[in-house]
Amino acid sequence: MNASKVYFIGAGPGDPEFLTLKGARVLAECRAVFAPTPYEQTFAAHLDGKTVLVPFDFYFAELLERIRAFLQEGSVAFLVPGDLTFYSPFQGLIDALGDLAEVIPGVGTANAASARLKRTLDLPGVCKSAVILSPRTLGDRPEDPKLIDFARPGTTLLIYMNNIPLPELATELRKGYGVNVPIAIIHRLCLPGEEIVQGTLDDIVAQVGERDFFNLQAKTKRPALTLVLVGETLGAREDGTWWDYRRDNIWRYRDGE
Ligand SMILES: C[S@@+](CC[C@H](N)C(=O)[O-])C[C@H]1O[C@@H](n2cnc3c(N)ncnc32)[C@H](O)[C@@H]1O
Repeated sequence: MNASKVYFIGAGPGDPEFLTLKGARVLAECRAVFAPTPYEQTFAAHLDGKTVLVPFDFYFAELLERIRAFLQEGSVAFLVPGDLTFYSPFQGLIDALGDLAEVIPGVGTANAASARLKRTLDLPGVCKSAVILSPRTLGDRPEDPKLIDFARPGTTLLIYMNNIPLPELATELRKGYGVNVPIAIIHRLCLPGEEIVQGTLDDIVAQVGERDFFNLQAKTKRPALTLVLVGETLGAREDGTWWDYRRDNIWRYRDGE
């Protein structure tokens, strides 16, 4: 039997269909699972017979104590929303656990959103870069960059954990881009209550209406499960030009075969 481990399993956007085969295998082996809401509900079929706890119910030291106690009995799993790559609060635990921690990659919200919209987030000739950011973490010192500094033609923005009211957000982005560009608001992707609104910076406020997709009126400061994508790639149409260019210039073997 392998030594017990603490697995940080990339759980995807919320639907267990997006768990990787490795994630599912490792989860099945663990007797204790820390699952942030709503994963304890959406993953219920995978959690049957296990001890399930919500990690955010504990202070850090208490959490480590619990983990160490569970490790006496077998491996422990954390269901990591999306996966660890971006905006994940689990780094401190992973560092504290050292060799006991193992991270399993998963489907990030960005991946699932791109798939749902059927759009690649960079597109030659349309989008030169894609920037992942959150207004919550840009900083508020005068020298810190502002959202508007990233809103540039040819840049796709992936805005996580937005806390700016939509009318202000759209106005700020419109100023940055200087033109009207497509925007998609992706709420509770792959979860019950999923809503996706696609529009442009000029009409998105009207399209969304009274819906509080960012939980700005909620009692808790917890970020809403809403991802915002902005950029020309969302509305672009791709023909075969770049395919043939790559065929001629990139994919061909150097000897011409
Ligand atoms: C703390 S971050 C976690 C990101 C996660 N590590 C990932 O890889 O996608 C939480 C933010 O991710 C986005 N998010 C997570 N799950 C989502 C979902 N199911 N639908 C839409 N956005 C989601 C939202 O922007 C939310 O505020």
